[in-house]
Amino acid sequence: MLKGNGVKGLSEMGLKSLPVQYIQPLEERTCMIQVVPQESIPIIDMSNWDDPKVGDAICEAAQKWGFFQIINHGVPLQVLENVKDATYRFYELPAEQKLKYTKENSPSKDVRYGSSFSPEAEKALEWKDYLSLFFVSEAEAVATWPPACRDEALEYMKRSETVIKQLLTVLMKGLNVEEIDETNESLLMGSKRINLNYYPVCPSHDLTVAIGRHSDVSTLTILLQDQTGGLYVRAVDSQGWIHVPPISGALVINIGDALQIMSNGRYKSIEHRVTANGSKVRVSVPIFVNPRPIDVIGPLPQVLAGGEKAMYKNVLYSDYVRYFFKKAHDGKATIEHAK
Ligand code: SIN
Ligand code: FE2
Repeated sequence: MLKGNGVKGLSEMGLKSLPVQYIQPLEERTCMIQVVPQESIPIIDMSNWDDPKVGDAICEAAQKWGFFQIINHGVPLQVLENVKDATYRFYELPAEQKLKYTKENSPSKDVRYGSSFSPEAEKALEWKDYLSLFFVSEAEAVATWPPACRDEALEYMKRSETVIKQLLTVLMKGLNVEEIDETNESLLMGSKRINLNYYPVCPSHDLTVAIGRHSDVSTLTILLQDQTGGLYVRAVDSQGWIHVPPISGALVINIGDALQIMSNGRYKSIEHRVTANGSKVRVSVPIFVNPRPIDVIGPLPQVLAGGEKAMYKNVLYSDYVRYFFKKAHDGKATIEHAK
């Protein structure tokens, strides 16, 4: 664990070249990304979220792009600024403070500070530090999350609940699920994880990645990114990638594998990646909205009601997630496994 200071510590040593463990195979390197400049993901104004036209735009974006940005979403700008500041505050702690939260030392399996994604399984490492916080209850969070960022992370989770429910309500309507009852609520948003990601400045950044190609295992992901940029989404029907431009105050929404499965493939969980940056730090704060680990997920009965064939098997969500985390980032291999 790079002596408690992660990739940030490595970056701040003033390296002139990239350590060999971070050199990605040629096809994964940033320099190989083919950007499709003429395409962009939709930007959706959530102020009239229950207007059918807005609903159609959300469902269409989920079907076509799997990614969109939302504005006027009701999460106060100050809450977003505070969680970004808190992210910096955590990473600027002395190494011995951060070391308390590594896999070996953490007070809880739900609190984890680390680097890269799955270092034991990766052929090449990712240029990234993370603090990952699985939400069980407010009491557990207060007892175990790092005080440097705990309150701000909790506030961001709390204040984003309304827009998450609005998005899921609309997306369910698009699947003929008229209301989110208790069972569906658990399946759609029964658990949450928040990550505070820190991507340090990287020497020879073209040779590595900040996050390799993957799709999320969530139902929905709500992502706050700063102004640095570097998130790329797989372009529909092409080998290229679309940049997700930072928009101040906006949140990036993407469909995860769990919702692709529940919608029997109608909503798309799209591959994405993050490039390393040679001159600027980047921070991002995704909230992964997930089923509960004990839920069994599969295509929803309402989707199959018309006689459509199920494209995916039913799977215990905790098994699905375990399979994802034991591999390196590998595109869409996890969901292919569920077929
Ligand atoms: C992620 O894909 O989990 C994070 C994306 C980002 O940092 O923009
Ligand atoms: Fe992701």
